[in-house]
Amino acid sequence: METADRTAPAAVIVAIDGPAGTGKSSTSKAVAGKLGLGYLDTGAQYRAITWWMLTNGIDVNDPVAVADACVKPVIVSGTDPAAPTITVDGLDAAGPIRSAEVTAAVSAVSAVPELRAVITDLQRTIAAEAPHGIVVEGRDIGITVLPDADLKIFLTASPEARAARRNGELKGTNAQQATDLAATREALIKRDAADSSRKTSPLAKADDAVEVDTTDLTLDQVIECVVTLIEGVSAEKAGRDIR
Ligand code: DC
Repeated sequence: METADRTAPAAVIVAIDGPAGTGKSSTSKAVAGKLGLGYLDTGAQYRAITWWMLTNGIDVNDPVAVADACVKPVIVSGTDPAAPTITVDGLDAAGPIRSAEVTAAVSAVSAVPELRAVITDLQRTIAAEAPHGIVVEGRDIGITVLPDADLKIFLTASPEARAARRNGELKGTNAQQATDLAATREALIKRDAADSSRKTSPLAKADDAVEVDTTDLTLDQVIECVVTLIEGVSAEKAGRDIR
């Protein structure tokens, strides 16, 4: 288990957005662990509610049915970066939310505005209650969920690099899913297109976000870059708090 080896001098709220496969989760978790901040994976919340819809027989392609049902499940996210958790109605959802069925359905479910409003409220509450600040990763955090975040970061990478990383990730869980790099690349591009073109809170870079292209960087380099950015805004905030 990683313990914080550096501390941010002031509690900060950090928004990290970007498409799948840019290293958002690995970076966010590691950075939060190093700086003693909480960590929230908002994609896991959208996946969890999608899993609940699928297991409860809700037609995920019917926005009215999804909107009607979305207030029913109770989603709870544990924000310790060393051991983040996600439960739905008290059931551990960490495994099933990574299934191919959930991945295929999550873009349609997360495009429903009523459902986004429910999940956005939940995310704001979690961020507001984080005692030492938090790193929140997703697609719409900097623009919609936490527009007043102390720091906004937008991670990008080429589709080839993203597909290669995703394939590596999938290898541990489902060897069959990992066999076809081209298929992974196509699936990522399709999901990005759906997430970027939806009407409500599309994937987009906030004007005041720092863009980090991770294509040619190692994970450690991305982590170091983000830690340095956070330490900068945190020190600035601590200075303002003292004055
Ligand atoms: O980060 P991920 O691949 O686990 O996210 C799964 C899906 O959830 C993604 O395709 C779009 C959706 N999502 C979203 O709409 N808004 C967020 N803040 C995070 C994820």
